[in-house]
Amino acid sequence: MGKINCIGILTSGGDAPGMNAAIRAVTRSAIYNGLQVKGIYRGYKGLVTGEIKDFKSQNVSNIIQLGGTILKTARCKEFTTPEGRQIAYDNMKKEGIDALVVIGGDGSLTGARIFAAEYDVPCIGLPGTIDNDLYGTDTTIGYDTALNTILDAVDKIRDTATSHERLFFVEVMGRDAGFLALNGAIASGSEAAIIPEFNTEVDQLEEFIKNGFRKSKNSSIVLVAESEITGGAMHFAERVKNEYPQYDVRVTILGHLQRGGRPTAHDRILASRLGYAAIEALMEGQRNVMIGIEHDQIVYVPFTKAIKNDKPIDRELVNVLRTLAI
Ligand code: F6P
Repeated sequence: MGKINCIGILTSGGDAPGMNAAIRAVTRSAIYNGLQVKGIYRGYKGLVTGEIKDFKSQNVSNIIQLGGTILKTARCKEFTTPEGRQIAYDNMKKEGIDALVVIGGDGSLTGARIFAAEYDVPCIGLPGTIDNDLYGTDTTIGYDTALNTILDAVDKIRDTATSHERLFFVEVMGRDAGFLALNGAIASGSEAAIIPEFNTEVDQLEEFIKNGFRKSKNSSIVLVAESEITGGAMHFAERVKNEYPQYDVRVTILGHLQRGGRPTAHDRILASRLGYAAIEALMEGQRNVMIGIEHDQIVYVPFTKAIKNDKPIDRELVNVLRTLAI
């Protein structure tokens, strides 16, 4: 394995608040360690099209507080083909890039894993997704900010829900992962959460509607994780409207506003620690691992493990929600 003199950095997949803080941390840690840095634009697409720029310390000034990603992001079809990856590799070599730091979710880390295996390119992944669905890290970059955005929205919805004595189904993101919905429900004092991991929640919803709504409360909020498995908020709202026409039901789909905004302190610190650790890992000779933080300690998680394993969601959280929602 050759010496690393120059690293390339890219953000890929859905953007997440805190990605800029990670770009800053990786860039500055690399420069601190005497490495050259190149910013690759629009994720893997920029590797294929050669949209690559030298990055100095000033390129990442004043970005720690910004949502989104200054490197832009994309989901790149070409990189999923061997021909596309060959072009990407040729461009990398042309630019003198010896190693890659990839910030993104499981699709992005899968790309890195395949590329690293085919071309023996050292790759380090940082977990960047609001979904929090990567195994091997307690939280992912962007998750805490998205959770706080959900709380802000649900607090507002509760005002109108209470005034009109309505039942609201609020759909949150997560792409088949229930972390945002379940923890969002606990933190916002919602009455229930419907998440794909525990589909028995559907029956509990039934129970809650029959026994709880209108008995002791003059409004109710149920958070629903977007998911093809459960059908999303519309599906449940229709069901309840049909079965209980006496209830005044409304749906709010929070959508992409959950992906924007200033990163919270948690996400900025997480991104800074992970970005710093990514360069430390490369300098130590680590390859093809995602950097995570578990129990406040930096951990190296092989790509195969981070991608293949489903991150478990603590069942106890369901009990917390149910108990506190009486
Ligand atoms: O993975 C992050 C995420 O926001 C998911 O929660 C959501 O399902 C998806 O991306 C939406 O993707 P897009 O912005 O491409 O519509």
